[in-house]
Amino acid sequence: MALWGGRFLKKSNSFFKKFNNSLQTDYVLVKQDIQASIAWSKILLESKIIKDYEQKQLETTLNFIFQEIQKNPKKILLSEAEDIHSWVEKKLIYILGDIGKKLHTGRSRNDQVTTDLRLWVKEKINYLKKSIVRLQESLIFLSEKNISSIFPGYTHLQQAQPIIFSHWCLAYFEMIQRDFSRLNDCFKRVNISPLGSGALSGTGWKINRKKLAYLMGFSKATNNSLDSVSDRDYVVELLSIASIGMMHLSRFSEDLIFFNSGECNFIELSDEVTSGSSLMPQKKNPDALELIRGKTGSVYGSLLNILVLLKGLPLAYNKDMQEDKKNLFDSLKTWESCLNMSKIVLFGLKINISKCYKTAEKGYINSTDLADYLVRQGMSFRDSHDLSGKIVLYAISKKKCLSELKLSEFKKFSDLFKNDVYTHINLINCLEKKISRGGTSKKQILKAISRSKKQILKNISI
Ligand code: ARG
Repeated sequence: MALWGGRFLKKSNSFFKKFNNSLQTDYVLVKQDIQASIAWSKILLESKIIKDYEQKQLETTLNFIFQEIQKNPKKILLSEAEDIHSWVEKKLIYILGDIGKKLHTGRSRNDQVTTDLRLWVKEKINYLKKSIVRLQESLIFLSEKNISSIFPGYTHLQQAQPIIFSHWCLAYFEMIQRDFSRLNDCFKRVNISPLGSGALSGTGWKINRKKLAYLMGFSKATNNSLDSVSDRDYVVELLSIASIGMMHLSRFSEDLIFFNSGECNFIELSDEVTSGSSLMPQKKNPDALELIRGKTGSVYGSLLNILVLLKGLPLAYNKDMQEDKKNLFDSLKTWESCLNMSKIVLFGLKINISKCYKTAEKGYINSTDLADYLVRQGMSFRDSHDLSGKIVLYAISKKKCLSELKLSEFKKFSDLFKNDVYTHINLINCLEKKISRGGTSKKQILKAISRSKKQILKNISI
C-alpha cells in the first residue's frame, strides 16, 4: 500500500501507478534521503517527539539500510515503492515496525524531496568543479609546451592576426574559470536547508530548523516554508550554468575540429579519440569533439524544459515538479563527461608547428603591423590602414606575402618605408609587440600561465 493509502477506497490503476512513480529516477537520492532522515530523527529526539532508544534504533537501521543497498543500488528498482522517500520509509517500517512509523512526524515529502535534491546537487557541484580543474591543468600543460608555437588567429573564420598557440589554450582556461566561479556562486544558494517546511506551511512541532540545517551540513535554514517547497531556482540556475559550460566546450570542439580539418591540418587528434569510416578507409573522424558539440543541444533542452515546467506553476508543490530531476541528472552527467572527454582529447593532441607557421605567414595576418609601422613613421592610422589595404591587394595580385615584397615595391606606396619594415612585419616581432595585459607576447603569456597556475591552486583549496 502507498504511504498515503488511508483515504482511498480503491487501489490505484496499475497504469497510473507506473505513470506516477518516480523511483526509477530518484533512486539515486538514497544516500541523501537517509542522511536527511537521520538528521530528522535527531531533531525529533531533541524536540522530545521520540525517545532516546527510538532515535538510536532509527539511526542504526537507516545506516544499515544504506550499507546494504550500497552494494547494489539498482536493487531499489525492483521495488514497487512510489519514490525513494517511500522506499526508505517502507524499509524502515519493515525492519523496525512501529518505531519506523514515527520518523515521518512533522515531515512532508515536499520538504524532503527538495532537501535531498539540494544535498545531491551540493555533492555534484564539487565533482564538476574537480573536472573543470583537471581540464584547466591540461590547458596549462599544453600552453607551457607550446610557448613558441606560432598559430594563425582568426576572426570571421578569416586569418586575422598571429597568436601563440598557448594564447588559444589560455582563452579556454578563462572561459571555464567563469564556469567554476558560477558553480561557487550557485553553491551558496543551494547550501540552505528547506527541511522543516512541512508540506507548505511549516511544521506544528517545535523544531530547531537552524540546528537541523547544520546537522545536514547546510549553512542555514530557508526563510519561508511556502517558498521552500516550491523553489526549484537552483535547478534552473544549475542547468543554466551547465548550458554555458557546454557552450564553451562546444566552441572548443568546433575550434579543434576546424584546426584538425584536412584544409587546416594545424593539429592532429589522437587515434584514441577519433574513429574511421566503414566505407572510406582514409577517414579519421573527430567523433569525441563532434559528440561534445552535439550533446550541448540536449543540455540546452533541459534548461528550456525546467523553465517551461515552472512557468505558471501555482504555489506550492505540484506533481509537475517531479519532472525536474531526470533532465538535471542527465545534463550534469553529460557536462561532467564532456569536461573529462575534453581533457583526454587535449592529452593526445599534436600540433603541426610548421604548417601553422606557414599558414600564419601566408595569410597577410601581419597587415595590422604594417599599418602600425607607418603610424610610427608619422602617418595617421586611418591613412596607414587604407594604404596597407592597398599593399595587401597588390601583394595578392603578385602572389606574394608581405615579407616577400621588395623595398622598391613598398616605396611605390609611400616614401616612409625603410629597410626596417621587414623587422616590423616579421611574425615573431609582431607577436612580441602585443605586450598589453592579456596579449599574445611571450612575456604576457608567461605571466598569464603563472596567474592561471595560482588560480588552479585557489580552485583546489575552495
Ligand atoms: N516523488 C515526488 C517528487 O519527486 C516527491 C514529492 C511528493 N509529494 C507529493 N505531494 N506527492 O517530486
